[in-house]
Amino acid sequence: MTKHHLFLLTALSLLITGLVFGPPASAGHGHKKQIKKGILLVTFGTSIPEAQKAFDNIDAAAKKRFPGVEIRWAFTAKMIRHKLAKQGRITLSPSEALAKMADENFTHVAVQSLHAIPGQEFHQLYQIAHAFEGLPKGIQKIIVGRPLLTTSEDLLRFVEVAKKEVIPTGRKPEEAVAFMGHGTHHPANTVYPALNYIFSRTDRKILVGTVEGYPGIDLVKEDLLKMQATKVWLIPLMSVAGDHARNDMAGPEPDSWKSQLAKAGISCQPVLKGLAECTGVVEIWLDHLAGALNHFK
Ligand code: CO
Repeated sequence: MTKHHLFLLTALSLLITGLVFGPPASAGHGHKKQIKKGILLVTFGTSIPEAQKAFDNIDAAAKKRFPGVEIRWAFTAKMIRHKLAKQGRITLSPSEALAKMADENFTHVAVQSLHAIPGQEFHQLYQIAHAFEGLPKGIQKIIVGRPLLTTSEDLLRFVEVAKKEVIPTGRKPEEAVAFMGHGTHHPANTVYPALNYIFSRTDRKILVGTVEGYPGIDLVKEDLLKMQATKVWLIPLMSVAGDHARNDMAGPEPDSWKSQLAKAGISCQPVLKGLAECTGVVEIWLDHLAGALNHFK
């Protein structure tokens, strides 16, 4: 065999190899994925049907603001997901929702936390989202939008919105208002006393307390007695008026806020409305989501 023949044979085998395995960068596997953006809204969840309308409201507002971007939901509370499953309603955890989105070829996902503060629930969500980013055959980029009350600007903006939209117009200036936040052992609990301070600078009769953190109901009661309040509006500082609002805040048990304050001679007017039912508050969350989506531009 001459050198010339060897060359031809090599060229021929290369050609056959090329035909069998296909050109490297054509349609099929191995090429650059088409961009597919998605939104994942994440909340603790609720199993109370009346509270669900707060989520429906934020879902509708998000669809209107981000048309063409598919919106999915995830509930972080396993107990709530299992309870809903027994009633025939399937809800996903953040991991399940992200795995499903990866399987459906989403390439860029903005995960928006619908939590009130960046506490433990938020940080766990952040970890989960980052664990799902950049996996083979998975989602290329995942950005997590911050919760409602994170920066000082968020708090200042929330206070203005709350005075206009969250506190009922029927409240008279001499009547007190106490917001009930969840509260946590997480360092982010500091948001609650910070918010209390910002409210007090604009209206000394508006207080912020928590169920499980600082300040608790004892301090709220102490402050209400100091200002000689005879009536207080109780408002949940949570996305939905769920179990905590209905029981810990407004329930008939002796340890509820309503019962404890009534016992101290202060009449209570509970407001069973979630923050996600208020347009101006939803706008803060959606601005955070828009910020997350901007990373994909
Ligand atoms: Co709780």
